[in-house]
Amino acid sequence: MFTRTRLTVAAFVAVLAVMTVITSYSVTLYRLFCQATGSGGTTQRVAEGSTTQTARIVTVFFDTSVAPNMPWRFIPVQRSVKLHLGEDSMAFFEAQNLSNHDIVGHATFNVTPDKVGVYFKKVQCFCFNEEKLAAGEKVQMPVTFFVDPRMADDPNTADVDQITLSYTFFQSKKPDTAIDLARFSAKAPDAQAGSRLFAAQCAGCHALESNKIGPELGNVVGREAGSLAGYPYSHALQTAHLVWTKATLDQWLKNPQAFLPGAQMPMHVDEAIDRNDIIAYLASLPKPAG
Ligand code: HEC
Repeated sequence: MFTRTRLTVAAFVAVLAVMTVITSYSVTLYRLFCQATGSGGTTQRVAEGSTTQTARIVTVFFDTSVAPNMPWRFIPVQRSVKLHLGEDSMAFFEAQNLSNHDIVGHATFNVTPDKVGVYFKKVQCFCFNEEKLAAGEKVQMPVTFFVDPRMADDPNTADVDQITLSYTFFQSKKPDTAIDLARFSAKAPDAQAGSRLFAAQCAGCHALESNKIGPELGNVVGREAGSLAGYPYSHALQTAHLVWTKATLDQWLKNPQAFLPGAQMPMHVDEAIDRNDIIAYLASLPKPAG
């Protein structure tokens, strides 16, 4: 009885030792494995956006964390985004280096439920690189992505209407290959510039507190498209069933008719930087009382 217990303990200790070794390598191994197979909730990297869209809508939630010894603050700018399968979307994440020295970070990422990982396609992501953030610096980093419309054909994912995209920033093991996150801070959205652009490009048709030629825009961020009583929307906007978020506003302003065929806003904003600034301005407006 006594020896048996000792044997069991010895076996247990051996298993524990092996597991410890495996876990210390597992972040790297797991990523290598997942990048090769696309399983385990790891997302796919693609060169270009989607070309087809479907009617099915999913909500993508964003989740962030930093490794315990990493003095960065890292948060999603928006909590979630609703999108059609196949629709190109964009989300922003904010990172700040709280220390007094430059740090190179590396983000690992994961999608839940796991089975959706193969359908989650990222076009642009800070997580593709080793990223340097200077002491005290703060940036907003965009991720562009879409959910592969082929997910609609997979009976296994028929129950999925919510997806969570999680990132964790670790200190980089390859700091010498880092590129500088300052490339985004140069383009961080600027609400004041957005206010000037709004006055010049939007105010002719839109007011903040009443309908004009175009609908009232004071509280447009977070509002359902085509939803103001008393404004004669086009059929396209009335039946759009989407919420105006930074991502959907970006697509709308880039090309309203491509985004919602039949829409009747006769202008668009070509420059991504201008769109970001205008959207930052709209998002910064105080919610009207009531
Ligand atoms: C020449 C007039 C005109 C200009 C300039 C214009 N818009 Fe519009 N906008 C419209 C019209 C008309 C609609 C309604 C379109 C429809 O019903 O299809 C609209 C709709 C919108 C909506 C949808 C609102 C809702 O309630 O669903 C948003 C958002 C919007 N515009 C933002 C902007 C922004 C931002 C600018 C400046 C960059 C701008 N628009 C410039 C005419 C204009």
